[in-house]
Amino acid sequence: MSTYKLLLLPGDGIGPEVMAEVEKVVGWLGKTGLASFETEHGHVGGSAIDAHGKPLSDETLARADAADAILLGAVGGPKWNGIAYDLRPEAGLLRLRKDLGLFANLRPAICYPALADASALKRELVEGLDIMIVRELTGGVYFGEPKEITALPDGSKRAVDTQVYTTGEIERIAHVAFDLARKRSGRVASAEKNNVMKTGVLWKEVVTKVHAEHYADVELEHVLADNCAMQLVRRPKQFDVLVTDNLFGDVLSDVAAMLTGSLGMLPSASLGAVDARGTRKALYEPVHGSAPDIAGKGFANPIAMIGSLAMCLRYSFGLGEAADLVEGAITKALASGARTRDIAAEGQETISTAQMGDAILRELETARGV
Ligand code: IPM
Ligand code: MN
Repeated sequence: MSTYKLLLLPGDGIGPEVMAEVEKVVGWLGKTGLASFETEHGHVGGSAIDAHGKPLSDETLARADAADAILLGAVGGPKWNGIAYDLRPEAGLLRLRKDLGLFANLRPAICYPALADASALKRELVEGLDIMIVRELTGGVYFGEPKEITALPDGSKRAVDTQVYTTGEIERIAHVAFDLARKRSGRVASAEKNNVMKTGVLWKEVVTKVHAEHYADVELEHVLADNCAMQLVRRPKQFDVLVTDNLFGDVLSDVAAMLTGSLGMLPSASLGAVDARGTRKALYEPVHGSAPDIAGKGFANPIAMIGSLAMCLRYSFGLGEAADLVEGAITKALASGARTRDIAAEGQETISTAQMGDAILRELETARGV
């Protein structure tokens, strides 16, 4: 069996706490012989600023480039609020995404039956929900130039961000969405604002063309991004694959996350292009942030982080069986009543981050008959 090189970047806030639970699962997979990993650790975000004076060192970037996959916890927190814009913790994560070419961000929003009552929406609206948000991750307003604040003669200031997309950038993310749809229900919704943005006009045009030329068997619907946000809370199950740009994807995936009960439930995969050897760069991280308000308290939900490992097994290593096992163990732990605070119903007993990790490990062991 191949041994895979995993780089673990726990980052800030609750990042290290949830990463510790993933390490238990990684250790278990190695022990059972289901997968073999060599793990190393590194710093990103605020923890990297503290260790090396910048949010991602060249050395960590080189190790990320050499790894078979990267698992990342979260970045940011009030401790680094005063820092220069280019050195802020988030810049470390953005550099990883950009420099490794991780343009395709998959954010699956699944509502587990046991959690349908934890959602802010009515059970019947979210029960059985299974949406895949495909967010473009290396373009758009996150990286467009100019991006600056300049002084005006009257003493006030002018701020500019630039939303920019090229045909090629839209084509490649459209292919990812359509290919995924073929393995799912065969439906894609594409969200943009072609009514006010030129990038929206081009987005719609290119997605339509890719569809017509290569994916006539897939159903395509165009939706304005604001309407999409509304539809997500009105009737979320109408969506299957949802493809959108970097900024809309950031916002819409937070909305989708809350449908599932908690931001603590959503994993994600950020993938690069497939290379000549058939491999691709990949980083896996929970959609939730560093949650500084609850950091260090030991009650963060590790499920999004553990779910990100499952995505890594599936997408980077083709270990579908191991991924199913991990995802199944999460489902069973939830069904057995294991709840961190964020997903507990009123009056329900809650457990710690580590206890949730242990509950998932127990289900893994039961599933393997150990
Ligand atoms: C996310 C986060 C990041 C983003 C931040 C931390 C830079 O919100 O992954 O959704 O905006 O992409
Ligand atoms: Mn976000």
